[in-house]
Amino acid sequence: MIDSLRTADSSPRVIRRAVVTGAAGFIGSHLCRALLQQGATVIGVDRRDPDTDTVAAVNLADVSGDPAFFPVTADLRTCAIEPLILDADAVFHLAGIPGVRPSWGAGFDDYVACNITATQRLMHAMIRLRVPRLVVASSSSVYGGTLGRPSAETDHPRPASPYAVTKLAEEQLCLAHAARPGCPTTVVALRYFTVYGPRQRDDMFIQRLLTAAVTGRPIQIYGDGTQRRDFTYVDDAVAATIAAATVPLSNSVFNVGSGRSVRLTEVVDQARRLVDHPIVVETLPAANGDVHATCADVSRVQSVLGWEPETELITGMATHLDWVRACGSVLGAA
Ligand code: NAD
Ligand code: UGA
Repeated sequence: MIDSLRTADSSPRVIRRAVVTGAAGFIGSHLCRALLQQGATVIGVDRRDPDTDTVAAVNLADVSGDPAFFPVTADLRTCAIEPLILDADAVFHLAGIPGVRPSWGAGFDDYVACNITATQRLMHAMIRLRVPRLVVASSSSVYGGTLGRPSAETDHPRPASPYAVTKLAEEQLCLAHAARPGCPTTVVALRYFTVYGPRQRDDMFIQRLLTAAVTGRPIQIYGDGTQRRDFTYVDDAVAATIAAATVPLSNSVFNVGSGRSVRLTEVVDQARRLVDHPIVVETLPAANGDVHATCADVSRVQSVLGWEPETELITGMATHLDWVRACGSVLGAA
């Protein structure tokens, strides 16, 4: 099975022109920087405008002056997509509405429209223009938590939240298009496991914990803090994402995780060690759809993409902490 994911042509593909959707977001902005560093021209598409949106401006600060970076403010639900992806070697589709907990509420229509309907529009445009590779951001949440062992790509998905349902629909939608005879686009879906690092979204745990550590405000934990996550450092996630576009492949799904699962209370202890003072913890009721544990089986991604998660949690958290100290006040977090 694993061998069949590699195609006969074994020469790595070169990305000269890349489109990154969700470019002004957390992972997308890191991906843009890495692609530029590798010499690609990058068209960065996002509905958030860095001229009016502080988070987008901060996220794009280190690429906005690069002459090979072309930011486009556009909403994939409605915009003309074909002009954006003309002559692209690969599209990295990270645009979407993330986050498990808010997806139960009134914003669900936005999850459906951005994660599913916009993806269908993108897929149609890519097929019409014969763009050879789509790398699409899927999510560990499609598994609905581990079953006492790391989750493998062959496991039956059991999404436990509306968000997770939309991410499963998104990846399967792309794969369904790609499986049609003669489809010119190869699809690689990456199931990212809780990505952290500088510029992490402000609804996410490590960003909130490190902000609490710097400001002295409490960190609020949903439930008893015994839940475990496979935390993945953003540079590692980006390296896997680029490999997914450059390695010759057939349509495929890969886990992108560290392969280790850490309890939230242990993460709080690590943060305490980094700042060398106590952190106040408050407990809130457990959140709906919050699975007890995630952990990636990374054997497929290691053997097929040749990718290894390299960053230890304590090392990644130290870099993330430096960023919170430097930028937290701009974002109103610290
Ligand atoms: P993010 O919110 O920081 O970035 C997503 C970006 O997509 C935002 O800038 C947003 O403005 C943009 N966007 C949303 N809808 C759009 C639309 N209709 N048109 C154009 N732009 C649109 O999120 P992130 O944490 O960087 O996540 C990126 C992707 O990875 C998402 O698809 C998310 O579901 C997925 N993912 C993230 C994680 C994680 O731990 N961060 C884990 C698993 C999967
Ligand atoms: C994260 C992303 O937010 C999703 O977009 C992504 O799809 C998912 O990872 C994934 O791996 O697929 P999550 O694991 O919930 O989802 O990541 P965090 O928001 O960082 O939460 C991690 C844990 O900390 C959860 O148990 C959550 O309940 C808890 N948490 C979070 C708190 O206790 N307090 C907070 O303030 C925030």
